[in-house]
Amino acid sequence: MILTFGGGKGGIGKSVIAANMAIALALSGKRVIIMDADLGAANLHAILGIKSPPLGLKDFIFNGYPLKALLMDSGVKNLKFISGAGDVPGISNIPYRVKLKLINNIKELKADYIVIDLAPGISYNTIDFFNITDNGIIITTPEVTSVMSIFSYMKGAFHRRIMNLFKNNDDVIEIIKTTKGPYNIIEFKDRLSKLNISYAEMLDSMLNNFRPMLIVNRLRKSTDTDIGESIMKLVKKNLCIEIKNLGHVVESDAVKKSVEYMKPFFIKEPNDKASICIQEIISKLTYS
Ligand SMILES: Nc1ncnc2c1ncn2[C@@H]1O[C@H](COP(=O)(O)OP(=O)(O)OP(=O)(O)O)[C@@H](O)[C@H]1O
Ligand SMILES: [Mg+2]
Repeated sequence: MILTFGGGKGGIGKSVIAANMAIALALSGKRVIIMDADLGAANLHAILGIKSPPLGLKDFIFNGYPLKALLMDSGVKNLKFISGAGDVPGISNIPYRVKLKLINNIKELKADYIVIDLAPGISYNTIDFFNITDNGIIITTPEVTSVMSIFSYMKGAFHRRIMNLFKNNDDVIEIIKTTKGPYNIIEFKDRLSKLNISYAEMLDSMLNNFRPMLIVNRLRKSTDTDIGESIMKLVKKNLCIEIKNLGHVVESDAVKKSVEYMKPFFIKEPNDKASICIQEIISKLTYS
């Protein structure tokens, strides 16, 4: 299973949650690979406690290394790590064909779980990695600006999916361009049905398969636990996209300290409230 970790904003906890979920899965006996796909600002190695990885994605992109050759020990049993790009200016703008090659190589990796930490935002490069799987994980905090960015993120991921689905169909591309937006899926579907009912069926099948998952991070108040449910309902109502709510991670000093000391909280403080949240998220993920 591939788990991509995305979110519209920076600094919301994508990397710490991806790292600690990967560790929790690995410690439960699963074979896990975690990859830092934040090409411009790779920092997952630091969160995992690895000072300077000898190889990284820059060696795949520029030096012809196969992706498999970049796998390194993470220091945690069952968990292998692929480091991000390193400091190469402009590397986040990888050419389309290199991105496709990278995506194909990721799909060929052998593991029970492949965890991919993404850059913030909805650039095509980031969204294309998010869309490697139908069940990408979006992270938000309870802040309104972060919650709002979920809608942009979902629209971005959806838009990229329909552009791929209908890329050889000029009539549909025209509809996509002229449907009032930012993205009105109901109007879009209606116009597709009028053109050809099978196009509307293709859209339905894509929407049925696209089941992103949500984690609300940095919860401070107990009332914040409703945020996940509200987001799910709004996204379903406005975008017709069904999100699965994986739960939340509470605000905890253990998370902050773990980043400072370069020691993942799930290992350093397994009984901390944030570690318990990670366990609960893993249970929801694996029992579905
Ligand atoms: N649950 C939490 N409790 C306390 N602090 C947290 C929590 N989650 C995240 N943080 C703080 O937020 C910081 C940023 O987290 P992280 O690097 O995972 O964000 P990110 O979304 O990956 O950012 P970027 O988009 O820049 O890569 C952490 O270093 C930590 O200090
Ligand atoms: Mg990050």
